[in-house]
Amino acid sequence: MIVNERITDYINSLAKELTPELRALEREALRNHVPIIKKETQGLLRFLLCMQQPKRILEVGTAIGFSALFMSEYSQKDCRITTIEKVEMRLVEARKNLSDPRFASRDKIRLCEGEALEILKELVQEQRQFDFIFLDAAKAQYMAFLPELMKLLEVGGILVTDNVLQDGMVTNSRYSVIRRDRTIHTRMREYLYTITHHEKLETVILPVGDGVAISKRQ
Ligand SMILES: C[S@@+](CC[C@H](N)C(=O)[O-])C[C@H]1O[C@@H](n2cnc3c(N)ncnc32)[C@H](O)[C@@H]1O
Repeated sequence: MIVNERITDYINSLAKELTPELRALEREALRNHVPIIKKETQGLLRFLLCMQQPKRILEVGTAIGFSALFMSEYSQKDCRITTIEKVEMRLVEARKNLSDPRFASRDKIRLCEGEALEILKELVQEQRQFDFIFLDAAKAQYMAFLPELMKLLEVGGILVTDNVLQDGMVTNSRYSVIRRDRTIHTRMREYLYTITHHEKLETVILPVGDGVAISKRQ
């Protein structure tokens, strides 16, 4: 937790309730240690969806479908969501949840199965454009995804990147980070430097959840 626990708990206590179906799915994910968006990130995402009112959302990192179903619930009726996942164990659950009739807005969602970088390239080939991208996959690949994401994000669109501060680890000096984490530390710092200095992006990094970067395409 990168923000004082008491403050986070207080802010979360003010959050609007999830629908009972989403609450049940959230509980199931937490019980099975599936890394879904935290409560405080949910609040931020919900606010951004309300502000931006996107029509075409791209999500990289479906897991079991919680955030996709969350976005389908709190976006406009005519919004469509494309979400990408590659791990079979997650896909089994995602397929099940995304076709569960209890989730009334599930028809907005299209699940793309496979390696994100390849699917992103296919979407670029198809000349697809998105006005909201939620990036929540393997952190080490964010730099590799970025050129494709820039082609897919329309002018005025928003790129939301989750987990960018990695429990605060990113702020530590490279030498105090254990060897196993050094590659991810270097790559995330490179990603954050790039999106904060990119001529086509205006970016803010917020200490919400495990750190969220919000970038607007100029
Ligand atoms: C943090 S979880 C996503 C959680 C989900 N967004 C939610 O909040 O409900 C990240 C997911 O991204 C998937 N993932 C990671 N790298 C990927 C890649 N290169 N291509 C496709 N999926 C990937 C992982 O298998 C994992 O299920």
